[in-house]
Amino acid sequence: MVEVVLWEWLDLALRWLHVVAGIAWIGNSFYFVHLDLSLRRRDGLPEGAAGEAWQVHGGGFYNMVKYLVAPARMPDRLTWFKWEAYTTWLSGMALLVLVYYLQADLYMIAPGLLALAPWQAVAVSLAGLALGWVVYDLLCRSPLGRNDTALALVGLVFLTLLAWGCWQVFSGRGAMMQMGALIGTIMVANVFLVIIPGQRKVVKALIAGEDPDPELGRRGKQRSLHNNYLTLPVVFAMIGNHYPLAFAGRWSWLILAIVLVLGAVIRHFFNQRHKGEASPWWTWGVALAGMAAIVWLSAAPATEAGGEAKSEGWADPAAVEEIVLSRCSMCHAAEPVWEGIALPPKGVVLETPAEIRRQARAIDLHVVRTRAMPPGNVTEISEEERRILAAWIAAGAPGW
Ligand code: HEC
Repeated sequence: MVEVVLWEWLDLALRWLHVVAGIAWIGNSFYFVHLDLSLRRRDGLPEGAAGEAWQVHGGGFYNMVKYLVAPARMPDRLTWFKWEAYTTWLSGMALLVLVYYLQADLYMIAPGLLALAPWQAVAVSLAGLALGWVVYDLLCRSPLGRNDTALALVGLVFLTLLAWGCWQVFSGRGAMMQMGALIGTIMVANVFLVIIPGQRKVVKALIAGEDPDPELGRRGKQRSLHNNYLTLPVVFAMIGNHYPLAFAGRWSWLILAIVLVLGAVIRHFFNQRHKGEASPWWTWGVALAGMAAIVWLSAAPATEAGGEAKSEGWADPAAVEEIVLSRCSMCHAAEPVWEGIALPPKGVVLETPAEIRRQARAIDLHVVRTRAMPPGNVTEISEEERRILAAWIAAGAPGW
């Protein structure tokens, strides 16, 4: 029991750190994109200054000036922005290990797909993260990388193919997490392997009074731009894996692909606006249409079980109780008997008829409309049983 309590708190503490670090990272990344886009030139700026911006915050005015060459005198203190990104990734990886890799049987594997052993699922996931980054990095460095629009389109196709692949290999929840982890890894690797090393070289050259290689600046800016456009999708993947309609449906891979476009156009709206150009309102039309498509796709029945009920009004409460007791209650009990589960998950207890009826809506979402529960179908609920639950719900979840 002590172990379970410590485990749970370690999970919560890491998640807390992860979310806070992510907020700090995204916050200052949005801030700097905005600052960069709002810089203006004017006569009389100090020598070497490329532009300035005025801002008001916290009871004072800030006059921000951007230098593209070393200022006449290097400041004693130069702040680098990198630990927000590194902390987000490190805490995220720790969470990935704690929640997913150590419980791969519940969260990553799904029977009916590839018959992976837990360690194999972990190996595939790690290899996928490494390979995803390598391919992305090569694409950026290839001749294609000279054309931002073409690169974005190829990148979208690449991530969509990967998403489709993930949903063939992992359970829905594992697949959504894998894609979130991959996009996050690409973003942090951009900072760690490209942007920061490039910046170090630029600073070194400037201090030495030399002209820095413009390619370094171009590359860094391109990767920053990618990170900017990937921010909203990565956050969707991280929270979407708590919503079965997003991760456990038949079209989840396509939903994620739509989110990649949707997140990018929303960022585009703000980027244009911050530049001071006409706001591209059409982006909200695209975002709304994308959202409508997502809702529609998620409503596609995950199995036949989600379709028509057996017959109008047909329901068999006794059979429902039997199914829930035999497929769910080993975990969802006041005192679960499933190994490794010490408390009813998410406080959901399914032991008495009243408890089962109270959870009818959740059962509909997690078992009938999607296949989120039982996790990885560890208790082997059958299609016929899902159909019986569907019929009971369609009939208004009558009691017994
Ligand atoms: C092997 C153990 C296990 C079995 C069997 C199981 N569940 Fe779960 N269930 C879990 C875990 C673990 C979670 C928490 C998932 C999470 O962390 O989001 C959960 C969460 C849930 C939730 C709450 C989801 C939320 O996000 O609020 C519902 C509802 C649920 N299960 C219903 C069922 C039903 C119905 C069945 C049987 C058809 C079932 N579960 C079978 C382990 C199990």
